[in-house]
Amino acid sequence: MCGIVGYIGYEQAAPLLLNGLEKLEYRGYDSAGICLNNGEKLIVEKAKGKLEVLKKLTENGTTLSGTVGIGHTRWATHGEPSDINAHPHLSESRRFAVVHNGIIENYIQIKEELSKRGIQFLSKTDTEVIAQLIEYDYQGNLVDTVIKVLSRLEGSYALGIISKDNPDEIIAVRKESPLIIGLGENENYIASDVTAILTKTRKIYRLENNEIAVIKRDSIDIMDMDKKAIHKDVETVSWDISAAEKGGYKHFMFKEIMEQPKAIHDTITPRIKDGRVVLNEIQLTDEQLKAFNKINILACGSAYHVGVVAKYVFEKVLRKPVEVDLASEFRYRDPIVDEKTLTIVISQSGETADTKEAMKEAQRRGSHVISIVNVVGSAIATESDDVIYTWAGPEIAVATTKAYSTQLAVIYLMAIYMGDKLGTINSEAYSQYVDELQQLPEKITAILNNKESIQNLASKNFNNRDVFFIGRNIDYALSLEGSLKLKEISYIHSEAYAAGELKHGTISLIEQGTLVIALATHEALLGKIISNIQEVQARGANVIGVACDNRSEISEVAQNVIFIPPTCDMFLPSLAVIPLQLFAYYVASLKGCDIDKPRNLAKSVTVE
Ligand code: G6P
Repeated sequence: MCGIVGYIGYEQAAPLLLNGLEKLEYRGYDSAGICLNNGEKLIVEKAKGKLEVLKKLTENGTTLSGTVGIGHTRWATHGEPSDINAHPHLSESRRFAVVHNGIIENYIQIKEELSKRGIQFLSKTDTEVIAQLIEYDYQGNLVDTVIKVLSRLEGSYALGIISKDNPDEIIAVRKESPLIIGLGENENYIASDVTAILTKTRKIYRLENNEIAVIKRDSIDIMDMDKKAIHKDVETVSWDISAAEKGGYKHFMFKEIMEQPKAIHDTITPRIKDGRVVLNEIQLTDEQLKAFNKINILACGSAYHVGVVAKYVFEKVLRKPVEVDLASEFRYRDPIVDEKTLTIVISQSGETADTKEAMKEAQRRGSHVISIVNVVGSAIATESDDVIYTWAGPEIAVATTKAYSTQLAVIYLMAIYMGDKLGTINSEAYSQYVDELQQLPEKITAILNNKESIQNLASKNFNNRDVFFIGRNIDYALSLEGSLKLKEISYIHSEAYAAGELKHGTISLIEQGTLVIALATHEALLGKIISNIQEVQARGANVIGVACDNRSEISEVAQNVIFIPPTCDMFLPSLAVIPLQLFAYYVASLKGCDIDKPRNLAKSVTVE
């Protein structure tokens, strides 16, 4: 989704803005632009397509001079991707420029009103109304004007605003869309997330909803909408700079796949003390935990797939019914949720609009919400009742890998922790789970060390038109993620099916050479999945099996098998997902796809 960056200091702003935008590319975008105050006027360059186009147009920013400016990567919502619809947007007389993340819901009404007063609009965007309204309402004080304009806007926004008349300030505002301020020496930044400015500063302020900031070279004033000053403590970001860089790898996705042992280790280790799971983040008493009669999981995309695994895990370990909902569906289905429901919300970014709104819906109905989030201080993290952070570090590739894995790790921690509180697991199982959980990073490393064999399989299987992923029970839950990973980055049509469901329709799609990836890690159902493999093979399928290395019978039926080390049933997805991620990565690489930024996709989907 859209990315914002802004700079005010003594250096030339354009190259810095382009550099910041480059760091935000992962969020997904289809056009980009920058606007600077050159001391006389506002100068702007915008271009449809990749940032490279804008870089060429501005000779890497060297053709634009000015030490204050704002930049934006746009992911089109209102109006197609084009030079004109790209941000920044200027007011009619080019006196004010605005970059915006979010959606202005009542923009048509405002646009009609301003058009009637003779104001000419250039773009089809909702954002342009903000620039035009500022100019229309301006009476000499920009902060007052912006506050007045905001009172008219419905929707969500993070805004960066500069003006022709004042080359010494940037105005920043936030409501529902994230925005941070980066603090430098005689220079300051704004950005939609820290990765954009991490190479420049680690000291930040996080703007909260309905806060407005006046940012100058050597001062930052933050206030509420009544202009009452707000004091904030400076936050120091602990993310390693190298975590937001490729560090010698060709793609972020590959780097992030390889980082998974560390990410899981960092997520579980601080929460296991003397063999006991300590989840201080959960504020609920044992009585409150026991009083819940249902668990409700809300998420989108891969985070939803974690939720599907969690359903199997929680029902088995906690003996409580679990419902998993796509957040976009939950919001509109009048769900049966109340104070007796425990809601768990899963989100890497903590900003996904549907997930956030679904969470609020659950809260309105009296449900206690625990969120599992990667981005510290994000909306879902701050607005949920309790938050358990995944310590995956910044995830840049659009297709998630390490965030998915660390979300699973948190689910396992929660299952052990709550199972103990509810008395549904005995001490022997408890110790075994903790022990196996701690071994996951090492076992994942062993699978990663064997990546060439998966690359080899990918080289023989990258030309398929369709791929089917099948599995039963927790293997089915994982097949959803395996299939999504492949289709989102390689553009190969792929589908996940519960293996027992094949014969009710999908099997008619199997023909000579169709690739079927059969997940067969779940020991109790091995015989059943072997039968399903035989069924598809009888119709010509080419089968790659994924199984534990203590079960060799799968080799007798599948053409190829990827073996993983055994572990407790419920932890198997953490291991089996690794070859599926690698397979998707290598296939996409062989097909020459834009792996880190697949077409049409965004990392963080902040619109409905
Ligand atoms: C996008 C991303 C997915 C992610 C989903 C939910 O579609 O491309 O990787 O799973 O959003 O995002 P969240 O930040 O809420 O986990």
